[in-house]
Amino acid sequence: MVIEKICCLGAGYVGGPTCSVIALKCPEIRVTVVDMSKERIAQWNSDKLPIYEPGLDDVVKSCRGKNLFFSTDYTTAILEADIILFLSIHRQKHLEMEKAADLKYVEGAARMIAEIAKSNKIVVEKSTVPVRAAESILNILSANNKPGVSYQILSNPEFLAEGTAIEDLLCPDRVLIGGEESVEGHAAIEALCSVYEHWISRKNILTTNTWSSELSKLAANAMLAQRISSINSLSAVCESTGADVSEVARAIGLDSRIGSKFLQASIGILNLCFQKDILNLVYICECLNLPEVATYWQQVIDMNEYQKTRFTAKVVQALFNTVSGKQIALLGFAFKKNTGDTRESPAIHVAKTLLDEGATLHIYDPKVEESQIFEDLTHPSVCENPEYIRKSVKIYEDAYTATAGTHAIVLCTEWDEFVFLDYKKIYNGMMKPAYIFDGRKILDHTNLLEIGFHVHTIGKKLNRPMINRCWSSTGKFP
Ligand code: UDX
Repeated sequence: MVIEKICCLGAGYVGGPTCSVIALKCPEIRVTVVDMSKERIAQWNSDKLPIYEPGLDDVVKSCRGKNLFFSTDYTTAILEADIILFLSIHRQKHLEMEKAADLKYVEGAARMIAEIAKSNKIVVEKSTVPVRAAESILNILSANNKPGVSYQILSNPEFLAEGTAIEDLLCPDRVLIGGEESVEGHAAIEALCSVYEHWISRKNILTTNTWSSELSKLAANAMLAQRISSINSLSAVCESTGADVSEVARAIGLDSRIGSKFLQASIGILNLCFQKDILNLVYICECLNLPEVATYWQQVIDMNEYQKTRFTAKVVQALFNTVSGKQIALLGFAFKKNTGDTRESPAIHVAKTLLDEGATLHIYDPKVEESQIFEDLTHPSVCENPEYIRKSVKIYEDAYTATAGTHAIVLCTEWDEFVFLDYKKIYNGMMKPAYIFDGRKILDHTNLLEIGFHVHTIGKKLNRPMINRCWSSTGKFP
């Protein structure tokens, strides 16, 4: 089967970059990304794209209007497409801790495809959906089928990480395609393989049955999150013992069986995908009557909550047990560097706690818009009084003005520019004693201590007396 047209339902953090790269690498395929939101589509068609992703602008500019189109016209895109990429998973801003993923949007999109399509389609689920979602999609499509129209459902999870999306799409560790174990299923898998083979070697394209592919996506995110929760749990032990979690991570990461990636302790992770996927996994295990397995994975989330709470409690405690009336600078609001995405960002949790305790916040993030920060902080799950937020939060254009006159700095996102700030200058402009809480472990703590800051970080006791060192050298407790 020759693929001529691909349409993608959903112009978000995955749909936009993925289709841009497909268009770049497959010039003979016409790729249309559709979304209900007129505003979002207008942004994709403008000079200021709705998401920040290194390298994305260039890719979009080189294909847009040639073989890459952004549109709100679902009908034409679905009618014409050979392959429909399905990314219409509920894009909630604040994850409620519900375990069953909200399949309402998947169902809605499946019904829409069934209503519009007049020829055979390969429907590809790309966003994370609960295991067996392909089956639900197929049931909806088959029940509403028009004569002569047939569907193949494939699972082709996306593993890209935000901030490195283009790089990940161009050189993925692997592409995973799951499909029905039948002649038609294999033909559909081959058709999708042929798209990826424009730039990815066949040996890096893994084909499985549908359920394996769906579960692999949940499992990959769960395992990644589990590593971070594990190192974060050890960071608490380090703070109580005088060990340094970075040294521990390096020491264990050099064991090739463990590996060094995803061992960076922080103020808490579990971005939207990680939380959603682990909750799905927990829910599936409960449904399958596997309570021990469900409890095991739930612990990964619980440990993350503990880490976030522990960090903010440390901030309050260090500031003489009260932040009421204090000015605190929050550096970074995105959930990680090189993205403007704030969904489930630990910065929201930190800001909420400090605001609840009566602090005034000065926030600066290089890529998150002021409107986004206020939208996040005035969400009902964060604050019931938007007026209070508007009075207590000010957004700044740079780190120097944001920190001026503050009692403390809390670093929430590991933006590179924060490493290279002139901290002497910052210190001079702050109230004394000046505190800095490095939630990402990226700063030069020795330098900060020399300048005069009181420094706190994750997984390492700073300012500790030299006597602690004696223990390791003499082998005895002091
Ligand atoms: C993640 C997965 O990596 C990706 O494969 C999947 O498709 C979507 O979810 P993403 O959320 O974009 O991607 O970012 P990732 O780099 O995985 O980071 C997730 C969170 O973990 C961030 O808050 C990051 O700061 C944190 N993290 C990551 C750590 O705290 N320590 C680490 O060692 C690595």
